[in-house]
Amino acid sequence: MQSIGIIGAGYIGGAIAARLAAKGIAATIANSRGPQTLSEIIARTGPSIVAGTREQAASKDIVFLAVNWPKVEAALAGLPDWNGRILIDTNNPMQRPPLPPIDVAGRASTAIVQEWAPGARVVKAFNHHYFKNLEKDPGEAGGRRVLFYAGDNEAAKIDVAALIERLGFFGIDMGDVEHGSRLFQSPGGPLIAHDLVKIG
Ligand SMILES: NC(=O)c1ccc[n+]([C@@H]2O[C@H](COP(=O)([O-])OP(=O)(O)OC[C@H]3O[C@@H](n4cnc5c(N)ncnc54)[C@H](OP(=O)(O)O)[C@@H]3O)[C@@H](O)[C@H]2O)c1
Repeated sequence: MQSIGIIGAGYIGGAIAARLAAKGIAATIANSRGPQTLSEIIARTGPSIVAGTREQAASKDIVFLAVNWPKVEAALAGLPDWNGRILIDTNNPMQRPPLPPIDVAGRASTAIVQEWAPGARVVKAFNHHYFKNLEKDPGEAGGRRVLFYAGDNEAAKIDVAALIERLGFFGIDMGDVEHGSRLFQSPGGPLIAHDLVKIG
C-alpha cells in the first residue's frame, strides 16, 4: 500500500487526517513548527496518524499539501527529489479577508505548484470543500460526497481516485490542470464550495 504524508496541519490538513483516520489509513502529518506541536491533532485523529517533520511527510508515496498559498513555495522548497511521487495540491490561491486577493496572473494555480515541485506528479483535489464539509463522513443523504480531481498524469489520477474511493467519497475526474482544475479552483471556479452528493 502507498504511504501517505500531509504537509500542513490546519483546517484542511486536519480534515484529511480525520478522514484517513476514520478508515484506519496510516499517514504522517507535519506543520511548520515541528512534530512536538501536533499533539492536539494526533490526540483528536487517533492512532493511524503520526506527527513528523515536513521532510518525513514529504517522503511518502502520496503527499497532501495543505498550507496557505503565500507559504506553498516555501513548504515545497529544499525537499529531496520527488522522483514521480504524487503531490495532491489542496490549495487555492487566496487568503482570508482582510488580506488582499492573490494575483496568479490568470494561471491555474496547480500549474504553479507543478513548477515549485519538479518531478512530482501533481493532482489537484480536496480543495473545493469548506473544511467542515470535508471532515464529515462522506456518506450523506444515502449517497456519497463528491470530490473533484484534476491532473496531467493519468496514472497518478488513477491512484488518487482509488484513495478518494477508499475514503468513501465519489470522485469525478475533471481533466487536466490547465482546463479542468480551473473549474474547482477558488476564487472563480464555478464548482467551488458546492457540497454535492452523488445519489445512487
Ligand atoms: N479552510 C478551508 O475551508 C479551505 C477550503 C478549501 C481549500 N483550502 C485551502 O487549503 C490550504 C490550507 O488551508 P487551511 O485553512 O487548512 O490553512 P491553515 O488552517 O492556516 O493551516 C495551514 C497549515 O500549514 C502549515 N504550514 C505553513 N507553512 C508550512 C511549511 N513551510 N511546512 C509545513 N507546514 C507549513 C501550518 O503550520 P504552522 O501552524 O505550524 O505554521 C498550518 O498547519 C489553503 O491553500 C486554502 O486555500 C482551505
